[in-house]
Amino acid sequence: MKAVILVGGLGTRLRPLTCNTPKPMIPLVNQPFIEWMLLRLRDQGISEVILAVQYLADRFRETLGDGSRLEMTLHIVEEPEPRGTAGAVKNVEHLLDGPTFVFNGDVMTDLDLRAMLAFHREKQSMVTISLTPVDDPTQFGLVEMDGQNRVQRFLEKPRAEDITTNLINAGTYIIEPEIFRYVPPNQFYMFERGLFPVVLQTGDPMYGFPSRAYWTDIGKPQTYIDVHHDILIGKVRYGFRGQQIADRVWLEGDAEIHPTAQIVGPVVIGPGTVIERGARVIGPSVLGANCSIGPECSLEGAVLWDANRLEEGVVLRNCVLGRGNQIGARTQIVDGAIIGDACSLGPENRLERGIRVWPNTNLGERAISF
Ligand code: GTP
Repeated sequence: MKAVILVGGLGTRLRPLTCNTPKPMIPLVNQPFIEWMLLRLRDQGISEVILAVQYLADRFRETLGDGSRLEMTLHIVEEPEPRGTAGAVKNVEHLLDGPTFVFNGDVMTDLDLRAMLAFHREKQSMVTISLTPVDDPTQFGLVEMDGQNRVQRFLEKPRAEDITTNLINAGTYIIEPEIFRYVPPNQFYMFERGLFPVVLQTGDPMYGFPSRAYWTDIGKPQTYIDVHHDILIGKVRYGFRGQQIADRVWLEGDAEIHPTAQIVGPVVIGPGTVIERGARVIGPSVLGANCSIGPECSLEGAVLWDANRLEEGVVLRNCVLGRGNQIGARTQIVDGAIIGDACSLGPENRLERGIRVWPNTNLGERAISF
């Protein structure tokens, strides 16, 4: 069985992390998210995957090639221009030969794919949509079904009095290729606003597959931080790389940790990282490869990509640092702040309340002060 993963979006909500890195390639616990996804598919028996790429397409080719490193067959197909979710699958239709899984490339889930396929076959469905319950249905597109799980209606961001279900589209589909005859070629076309409403009208069988599997869209800054925390505290099944050196502290390769540094798990430390005298790293936190954590730094709930250098006394709380940043002494980055790549932030700044700093920014000493 084949799968198509949609990975061509711009990832605007996650900027500046997606300025240089397409969203499905951003690291999740020091591993490109798409790589984790591919390995999960392979483990569930899907070893031939089509990646529908567009934005920063070369990054996928460089990292994944033909898939042989992951012992899979990968076809990386670039759209001439963004075609939208259904248009992107239409663009690779010639590679499909039977029921096909289609995934959004920004959803972290441990959904049971075999169970979903069995359901699809049992119902003789043409389109099966995975569904997940949410607490506040007014913020989402809801999917209404009859007693046999056949989809009856889509409700986009309904008013409270119109709510009849709390199930939303979870971004995993099984689709019979014949259904793509309804998708116009060479055009921008979406599943949610285009194909699915059309299938309701044509009467082709379309079913919902509700599940309580773990589900998070990694495409917003706070959900990106939250999903790290969920993985580290064990809310979602995840195979950590590296070796466990203390209670819930994983080390990938070599690292230098000063004997006076304090590490309180769950924490993952990338290879080549140095943690200096008196530094405190409190979980859930992830440090990428080749980071340098200066003396007396204090980190909690932080996600650092590779090659970040923190000088003495830097404070990081509930924040993300992209790749290759230099952070001056005693600077504080807290409260959902996101720093892009290759920034140089001078000493004694305070960045807070979800502030976003674009790649290559240079900030002087106490430019944003406290
Ligand atoms: P935002 O700009 O933050 O909304 O993110 P996004 O561009 O990724 O859009 P969205 O989250 O709605 O997309 C869901 C999935 O579809 C993501 O995995 C995207 O990469 C993918 N996607 C969205 N539009 C396209 C497209 O035009 N072509 C392809 N190949 N994939 C797309």
